Amino acid sequence: MASAGHTVVGIDVDERRIAALSRGEAPFFEPGLDDLLRAGVESGALTFSTDIADAADADVHFIAVGTPQSDTGAADLRYVDAAIADIAGILKPGALVAGKSTVPVGYASTAAERVEAAGGRLAWNPEFLREGFAVQDTLAPDRLVYGVRDGDTAAVDILDAVYARILEVGAPRLVTDFATAELVKVAANAFLATKISFINAMAEVADAVGADVTQLADAIGYDGRIGRRFLNAGIGFGGGCLPKDIRGFVARAQELGVGESVAFLREVDSINLRSRVRVVSHAVGALGGDAGGRRVAVLGLAFKPDSDDVRDSPGLDVAIQLKALGAHVVAHDPKAIASARQRYPELEYVDDVDDALRGAEVVVLATEWAEYRGLDPKAAGTLVAARRIVDGRNWLDAAAWRGEGWQYRGIGRP
Ligand code: UGA
Repeated sequence: MASAGHTVVGIDVDERRIAALSRGEAPFFEPGLDDLLRAGVESGALTFSTDIADAADADVHFIAVGTPQSDTGAADLRYVDAAIADIAGILKPGALVAGKSTVPVGYASTAAERVEAAGGRLAWNPEFLREGFAVQDTLAPDRLVYGVRDGDTAAVDILDAVYARILEVGAPRLVTDFATAELVKVAANAFLATKISFINAMAEVADAVGADVTQLADAIGYDGRIGRRFLNAGIGFGGGCLPKDIRGFVARAQELGVGESVAFLREVDSINLRSRVRVVSHAVGALGGDAGGRRVAVLGLAFKPDSDDVRDSPGLDVAIQLKALGAHVVAHDPKAIASARQRYPELEYVDDVDDALRGAEVVVLATEWAEYRGLDPKAAGTLVAARRIVDGRNWLDAAAWRGEGWQYRGIGRP
């Protein structure tokens, strides 16, 4: 927002985070973000504070707090509720509160009553950015969605002014009611999750008959109605969004009495979790059926490349499952070791991929980092104790690895 010409104050309750941001240091890795952050801080357009009173002059308040999964699978709305209460205490008359957090459908209309009682107005303005492409997706989004109260043209005008530079480059913008805007967000993530689990289900069938799911994905992907993106079979989806959003959607649909309509998302979730277990089984199978005391290298802990996020990461999950089976797991990731170590200090982490490979009896590739595609099967073969690799992302050139004497196992590929 600062780079789009606005004066911005970022508020958080975490003092260490605010102190780091004020020095221009992002608390996580995101390509391109550091430069924008530093430029904003240096120009003075971007400041940070733990005191909500510092936001009292704002014309627009974006709420971007997390809505994590609770024990029941539903979204935990504690933080977004607290943010609304804090903002209501300092809101200027007529100012806009724009919700970005992913919430269960129906939340915004009750939030609107609270904001309106405080003299403001509410819009629900869901976020579609992908980690790893967050800057690009924010400054040149596929679309903008404004969920507003019927007839609230002032809210639309305020958001148009906020997004003026983004609208200029041609982003489509849709104005909807609150419930539609909320649903758009979860429907988009549910569709993406379904697409990934669909191809992983095809991978299971392909494995049963010796077919190649990557060729299958290429072939069906040429059909414009289907499209090739998000048809990469493998260890499945993770992260802070897709897994929790489909579970939250199922929980909310049940509350609304339409649980059956999205019951298929439970299957999407099961296929996804099964994809992780299959990678573990392939690794254990490569070891002759017993992982106890065996040295296993896991390459990739971030839930996707170009991120240091390990929330619900398939790679970290596989590493933990293998450790639970008694394996001596040595894990590597180009960016995510610190965040993985924080969650699971009991795993062994190494900064150099060669140290992970050294002595490994099987290698599991779990995240498709560019660095791993560059691995030389010949050189890697001199480090490991046995040339066995499970490619959980179908990321490597199978023929090249087999050519160097590796027992190569992809997902849904002969
Ligand atoms: C996802 C959505 O793509 C964003 O549009 C949305 O804004 C975001 O959630 C959110 O709700 O905040 P993100 O979680 O950053 O973004 O990651 P994705 O690129 O969607 O990937 C999710 C997972 O699916 C990753 O673990 C990735 O490895 C996996 N994936 C992706 C596959 O297994 N196969 C594919 O073909 C594509």
